[in-house]
Amino acid sequence: MPKPLFSVRVRVPASSANLGPGFDCLGIALTLYDEWRVEGWPGDASLRIAVDGADGIPTDGRNLAYQAFRKVFQIHNRPLPALRMDLKSRIPVAGGLGSSSAAIVGGVVAANRALGDPMTRDQLLDIAAEFEGHPDNVAPALFGGFCAATYGEGKVHCVSWQSPALFRDLVAVVAIPYFELKTEKARAVLPKNVSRLDAVFNTGRAALLVAALLSKRYDLLGDAMGDRLHEPYRQKLIPGFSSAIAAAESAGAYGAALSGAGPTLLALAPRSKTTAVGEAMVAAFRDATVPARSEILELDLRGARVKGS
Ligand code: HSE
Repeated sequence: MPKPLFSVRVRVPASSANLGPGFDCLGIALTLYDEWRVEGWPGDASLRIAVDGADGIPTDGRNLAYQAFRKVFQIHNRPLPALRMDLKSRIPVAGGLGSSSAAIVGGVVAANRALGDPMTRDQLLDIAAEFEGHPDNVAPALFGGFCAATYGEGKVHCVSWQSPALFRDLVAVVAIPYFELKTEKARAVLPKNVSRLDAVFNTGRAALLVAALLSKRYDLLGDAMGDRLHEPYRQKLIPGFSSAIAAAESAGAYGAALSGAGPTLLALAPRSKTTAVGEAMVAAFRDATVPARSEILELDLRGARVKGS
């Protein structure tokens, strides 16, 4: 029976970026997972990708996980073997829950393990963030927990918090509309310049949000999740946005915001209110004739996990 050169399985969490004011720098990992199995076989660099659970994910050289995998091999001057990649997709595609970041992180982590783990997670973060263009989804997808990540000189600076105590009574309720919104489209509507008032509004809230989460001042999240840099421009792409945010807060969420570039919305809620918050957001979307579903997710505290050698 022939054996592969390597066989690696990687499970990568979904992520929710921005959390309101932390545009391109704050994110959390969530307990919804994509799982990749990557096998290398002797032979030339042929590629076979199979996807279970999603439509529209490229199964050729355009696949992001493959490109990220190949990049790590290139950095180490190692030729690619024949690759078989299998994806169990659970994270909605172009939904605002970090599906492309999960693919990139799956690719770099699998390649690193296939090569015997020559790179640290911080080094993998630099590669993954370069692919994605911003670090706020790839950081939580790699590390888990709550992450603050931004570009320093030529590398990503990231601090992540994974303490279970931090999130003990904080549950993520996401409302996922049944339509896709590509990040490029949601970034294209943003203005090139913003006023100082709006910049000050956001820096104050981003700082307050980090402090509120770390000190468990959840009562501050409603204000701290406010944003003027992206949500005001993106809401025209998401019918029902404002009423669903308001509905989440009326139903007992501490705060709510657009998840990444949308169209999913994220509410952070006490455990006792999660069902009501999910139902309220879905009902508000329905009133705006947008079919949606809700999911109650915990914060993932482990990030990308790998099995195999
Ligand atoms: N920070 C990014 C954005 C996340 O809002 O465009 C989406 O990938």
